[in-house]
Amino acid sequence: MKGIILAGGTGSRLYPLTKVTNKHLLPVYDKPMIYYPLQTLVDAGITEIMIVSGRGHAGHFLELLGSGADFGVHLTYEIQEKAGGIAQALGLAEDFVDNEPVSVILGDNVFQDNVRTAAETFKEGARIFLKEVPDAKRFGVAEIKGKKIFSIEEKPAKPKSNLAVTGLYIYDAGVFEIIRTLKPSGRGELEITDVNNEYIRIEKMDFSMLHGYWSDAGTFESLFRASELVRSTKSI
Ligand code: G1P
Repeated sequence: MKGIILAGGTGSRLYPLTKVTNKHLLPVYDKPMIYYPLQTLVDAGITEIMIVSGRGHAGHFLELLGSGADFGVHLTYEIQEKAGGIAQALGLAEDFVDNEPVSVILGDNVFQDNVRTAAETFKEGARIFLKEVPDAKRFGVAEIKGKKIFSIEEKPAKPKSNLAVTGLYIYDAGVFEIIRTLKPSGRGELEITDVNNEYIRIEKMDFSMLHGYWSDAGTFESLFRASELVRSTKSI
């Protein structure tokens, strides 16, 4: 299985922290943000990983992470020329993925869970990872009943549940066909939620519940919270 870290976007919600550097290089407690999603993929047993970033600070990722040898993995880099959304960034990795299954993780997501079993037992379709949150309207929100998932709504004003779709997704190689059919959303981006809803429509979507902590880190509050969560598990 291949791994992709999506580290594009402008980080506008964190301005001026992101005026001269990339959001994914900002500290989350004692490490640069991107170390966390990278470690999640490493812990899942994935060794071939591509980092997709925007223009501007792409060289900094290379300087920070190099070949990946420090993490025991092999890193490849790709540039997303314009902020066209998560699904568009993923589409750039098609040749790299080369018909294998792929784990995709957002560069600003911090997970405590180890998802190795989910990665190792994945066969086809797609799998997402859900987490109960108090502020679901900031995220993709899943509507489920028992083991069945009915829909995902992107940032709904009135969430149908408190289950956020976290920024970790496992797909079969069919994901690239789906991306080609997408139309830009209201915010002008190709939405990963549209990809996931297509997998739901064709009844090939599974989900897992996360048990450990999870946070994004793309706003001042969530960045602060992510640092607190990481710090809370250290003995200091
Ligand atoms: C993205 C996805 C959203 C998901 C979130 C997780 O939102 O669109 O479905 O819940 O990541 O961090 P963004 O943070 O790009 O607005």
